[in-house]
Amino acid sequence: MTDSAPGRARAEAHANIALAKYWGKSERGDNLTAVPSLSLTLDALTTRSEVCFDASLSADEVNLGGKQLEGRELERVRVMLDRVRLQSGEKRFARVESANNFPTAAGLASSASGFAALAVAARAAAELGPDAAAASKLARQSSASAARSIFEGFVELGRDADAAAPVAPSSHWDLCMLVAIVEQGKKEVSSTGGMEQTRLTSPYYAGWLEAAPPLFDEAREAVLARDFQRLATNMERSTLLMHASMLGSDPPIVYFKPASIALIHAITGRRAQGFPEAFTLDAGPNVKVLTLAEHAEKTENFLRSVPGVAQVLVCRPGPPAALLELGGPLADARRLRVVGETRT
Ligand code: DP6
Repeated sequence: MTDSAPGRARAEAHANIALAKYWGKSERGDNLTAVPSLSLTLDALTTRSEVCFDASLSADEVNLGGKQLEGRELERVRVMLDRVRLQSGEKRFARVESANNFPTAAGLASSASGFAALAVAARAAAELGPDAAAASKLARQSSASAARSIFEGFVELGRDADAAAPVAPSSHWDLCMLVAIVEQGKKEVSSTGGMEQTRLTSPYYAGWLEAAPPLFDEAREAVLARDFQRLATNMERSTLLMHASMLGSDPPIVYFKPASIALIHAITGRRAQGFPEAFTLDAGPNVKVLTLAEHAEKTENFLRSVPGVAQVLVCRPGPPAALLELGGPLADARRLRVVGETRT
């Protein structure tokens, strides 16, 4: 069985969590980012997508987890498919089926794995050759964090960079990212809308733009040196400065819930006692806790004991995006060919 047939392909990509955050678009447009970011691709959070160009369709159809997408969500996918059609000469509309193995849009980076899987599948279905940088650029144009999900392990997306680039493979450092879910369901303010509101109204946005690049540099060096304390300090500072810029928006953007704040205090206290743990939050109330793999069980037990924590997902550094075999249920398809190979 081949990994793509004319007009049809399947792919999977994994979510990523930023260790140094991106928040804000570049003045150059095209969804380029105003600050550099650094992320960790996560093994346990996966999106699988199948794209099938079909001459019988009169419009693109997108099904996410059994639900037909409409409105803005559908439009975002169509824009990516239009780019692929333009680049490949493919004329047909597409049927897209996509499924996450984790809750959608709860600050769990579903758009990152979703647009990365879609970019890889759509390019292959349109018979564009495997090209990690091209897939990363295509993903980035739809959702900047998705550019990073093409690659495994530790990944960077530079300011104004077209595509993400690998920093170190998953095997570089045995870390664990535990996702403490304090609230399920859709977030109230999307990251796209939230960062635009921050740029336009927050007096602290200028401070964020100034502070983010050196925090990125520090976090990157800490990853390369496997220096947990240094990474912890910079990741938490990147998180809090990003949220401070959001809090300064008018109207304010407050993603924190009481359990988010409780966890920030708890993790800060535990690190002061010597536990290798650090927190981060994205555009949502869930708290992600970074720790060393050898310490993960203790962290998990602690998080499960905190009131307000509904679920804990345990993630390790994850693999690159890959094409999947065709045929049979999407959930059961085997990985065939890696797209975001790391060459470090
Ligand atoms: C807080 O990539 O979701 O998770 O480019 O508008 O789709 P768009 O935004 P998105 O923003 C992610 C923001 C973040 C931080 C990060 O992942 O770097």
